[in-house]
Amino acid sequence: NNLIFSGIQPTGNLHLGNYLGAIRNWVKLQNDFECIFCVVDMHAITIPQDPAVLHASIREVAAGMIASGVDPQKNILFNQSRVPAHAELAWVLNCIARIGWLNRMTQFKDKAGKNRDNATVGLYVYPNLMAADILTYKATHVPVGDDQKQHLELARDIAQAFNSQFGVDFFPLPEPQIFATAARVMSLRDGTKKMSKSDASDQSRINLTDGPDEIAQKLKRAKTDPLPLPESAEDMKERPEVANLIGIYAALSDREIGDVVTEFAGKGFAEFKGRLADLAVSVLGPIGTEMQRLTKDPGYVDQVLREGGEKANAIAAPVVDQVHDIVGFLR
Ligand code: TYM
Repeated sequence: NNLIFSGIQPTGNLHLGNYLGAIRNWVKLQNDFECIFCVVDMHAITIPQDPAVLHASIREVAAGMIASGVDPQKNILFNQSRVPAHAELAWVLNCIARIGWLNRMTQFKDKAGKNRDNATVGLYVYPNLMAADILTYKATHVPVGDDQKQHLELARDIAQAFNSQFGVDFFPLPEPQIFATAARVMSLRDGTKKMSKSDASDQSRINLTDGPDEIAQKLKRAKTDPLPLPESAEDMKERPEVANLIGIYAALSDREIGDVVTEFAGKGFAEFKGRLADLAVSVLGPIGTEMQRLTKDPGYVDQVLREGGEKANAIAAPVVDQVHDIVGFLR
């Protein structure tokens, strides 16, 4: 039985990378699979957050998912902290995962920076909580962007280690689902860095809340090079910014990269960027407007998250009970 789980952090703005790398794929999967989508507020506090800002971000990210087409009637949509199973299972998994496994996590190294002693313990064990998110629903598939691949491999290792330590066939090993086009959307200012909520420059990303003028302006100013557009996909290898913009165009128009390259081969960037801006505004404009409407009167979003939390809890709590039995706790 297939079950899909994925999550997104309520830190900073939702951006085009989150949309193309994750949310848009969730919208496609929801028609064919049972899906659970989570606003991972417990992950957010692994880095200090202003409580009022976090509170607003949880609603905004949920609104962004709904505005992008994630249907709360078809899926379970909730915020993580409502369901105690995540923290409870994370503790057990903390006692399964090895320090050496966590030491290999590149995202921790990136986020902790040079002063690693000052990073929170939560940031360090973040991947164990992520494994708990997935395993507490016994999810089989996890649609994510490319940057989450290592965390998912760890989740599989933890599931396998649990099963083997206790001699059970309890957790399925979750499969990452990484969709080829736009699995890694890059910064508009630097084609070697991924588009990220934490980049200091707002010009580096397109936020789902940006208006049409802002979207067009950011794309028109996006870094490129003085050459015309490439004649072939081969031609883009040493041109990361160009490859990124073409990838974004292909993803937004649901076309193959090769197809887009052929259409614009040898043309100038002014024309291409104009077309890309029109395309981006036509896809993202309505999402931004709907997000605004949903966050202005948050009653609906709050209700979705509350009801989603109840449904999620009904699935997750019995799994944690079984885990506690397997481990040997007296209940
Ligand atoms: P987060 O909040 O950083 O990102 C949410 C989703 O967006 C994808 N993404 C991108 N995809 C393409 N290009 C980009 N530039 C880009 N930036 C972000 C991410 O890959 C992700 O799919 N640890 C996770 C959240 C999480 C989770 C989970 C995910 C917590 N528990 C359980 C899956 C299952 C994270 O920080 O995602």
